[in-house]
Amino acid sequence: MLRLLLLAVALTSATGQLDSRTIMQYLQDENMNTLTAYLTATGLDKLLADPGSTAVTLFAPTDQAWNKLPSNIVFSLSTNTTLLKKVLMDHVVNQVVLSQYVRDQDAKTNLNGGAMVFRVYPNGVRYVG
Ligand SMILES: *[C@@H]1O[C@H](CO)[C@@H](O)[C@H](O)[C@H]1NC(C)=O
Repeated sequence: MLRLLLLAVALTSATGQLDSRTIMQYLQDENMNTLTAYLTATGLDKLLADPGSTAVTLFAPTDQAWNKLPSNIVFSLSTNTTLLKKVLMDHVVNQVVLSQYVRDQDAKTNLNGGAMVFRVYPNGVRYVG
């Protein structure tokens, strides 16, 4: 359920030639404030702020997507760091995923060992849990 956060942006740490910013810098520049705060609260920001870290891709829910969550879920996330970290790790894969190479129904394994299944739509790539 929580992985059905649409409006996610795929950010990879290995876009070096295209964009020298780290994922954390990008999130801050794009004012993705909820995600930035959550990543910082769980310590996952260190993984995403390190330009030398292994290649990871973060499927970054926008503030709009977070704002669509029911208030009881927002409450659970903001009071339970263990849960928050688990949810965030559902959105990170340990490899580079470039949206132009994703095919419909492709699956990747997230940092919790679960599957992320991608759907390709005319207006972009989205994924479901
Ligand atoms: C926090 O979330 C974890 C992971 O879902 C869960 O096991 C734990 O029971 C939760 N703690 C509280 C106080 O709700």
